[in-house]
Amino acid sequence: MNFELTEEQIAVRDAARDFAQTELLPGVIERDDKQSFPAEQIKKMGELGFMGMMVDPKYNGGGMDTISYALAMEEISKIDASASVCMSVNNSLVCWGLEKYGTEEQKQKYLTKLATGEIIGAFCLSEPEAGSDATSQRTTAEDKGDHYLVNGTKNWITNGSTASVYLVIAQTDPEKKHKGINALIVEKDMDGFIVGKKEDKLGIRGSDTHSLMFTDVKVPKENRIGDDGFGFTFAMNTLNGGRVGIASQALGIASGAYELALKYSQERKAFGKEIFQHQAIAFKLADMATEIEAARMLVMKAAYLKDAKKDFSQAGAMAKLYASKVAMDTTVEAVQIHGGYGFVKEYHVERLMRDAKITQIYEGTSEIQKIVISRTLLK
Ligand code: CAA
Repeated sequence: MNFELTEEQIAVRDAARDFAQTELLPGVIERDDKQSFPAEQIKKMGELGFMGMMVDPKYNGGGMDTISYALAMEEISKIDASASVCMSVNNSLVCWGLEKYGTEEQKQKYLTKLATGEIIGAFCLSEPEAGSDATSQRTTAEDKGDHYLVNGTKNWITNGSTASVYLVIAQTDPEKKHKGINALIVEKDMDGFIVGKKEDKLGIRGSDTHSLMFTDVKVPKENRIGDDGFGFTFAMNTLNGGRVGIASQALGIASGAYELALKYSQERKAFGKEIFQHQAIAFKLADMATEIEAARMLVMKAAYLKDAKKDFSQAGAMAKLYASKVAMDTTVEAVQIHGGYGFVKEYHVERLMRDAKITQIYEGTSEIQKIVISRTLLK
């Protein structure tokens, strides 16, 4: 078993770390405060190849492996999880889904621009009454011969207003249940498509989360991804990969908070010595470091299996389940180690603690991960 990263993977990780420090760190507190999307920074991330990392170079992608992607996600998430969720959705859900299942025409038309970050994509599955229970889609895509007529509402959509391309999951034949669902490419300027209210969130406040409304939106048949009725399988397979991205995000939030706490514990003095010299603090940091390393192993295993083209659905769900718990636990402890300073914005850890929570909710709650894992146990 080889735990060493390749030179290329190390270079990608270091480039992401450098970018996060120089371009994302300045202004991250203000963006969180004002809920402003890091548009300029995302544009630069596209120029540097972070928005379509795993896409084949023939579609303008980076042609990198999932391990490199996970490493970059971790580094970006240490500093700005709002930027990294935009990156994750674009890479793992939108680009991957289109590259794997799209037609050549769809790839030429959309993927070549999504992979460079020239345009951004969104993945639209969640609804007011279908979050975890994804088979209960209320949004309809009525078959009208040469096009679908889409009606309904989607909720909590990442990149909701900044995206140009939306992968929309909708029900065509309710009698067929999940086998009657389609995945359609909707363009922002299609008639009847409206970007609704922006969510005022606890964390990842710089990310752009909206509800979306579809009223008689005419989507040409050539915009369907895969065969008729493939939409639910498309969503499930795509989310399996998405979970590796969110697990990496959770890992990054945890390691970002840990690094800040470790540094602080060597600077701050109490009772005559640096607080790291007190076992109460050193033991917390030992636990944090151990749990982060365990989460990293799960993330890397899932990424490795995906690159090896083996079944990674269990590994991805385990990585997300565990890394998101570690993100939550670690950030709470990082605030505790910082004491009063941890409760104020300037020290970053309170933001990381708020950001951590969403990793236990989106792309499947922790309970959904346990469903996915437990079903694989019976196979
Ligand atoms: N991978 C591949 N296929 C899967 C799958 C998986 N992980 N889970 C289920 N499927 C397949 C099943 O094999 C089955 O297919 P067949 O009928 O062909 O055998 C089909 O899907 C239906 O499966 P179930 O009967 O098990 O469906 P279910 O309704 O009992 O439960 C679920 C399925 C796993 C709970 C699913 O609904 C689910 O994953 N829900 C969570 C959805 C989710 O993650 N939402 C997040 C929104 S996206 C987001 O957050 C993006 C963002 O903006 C950040």
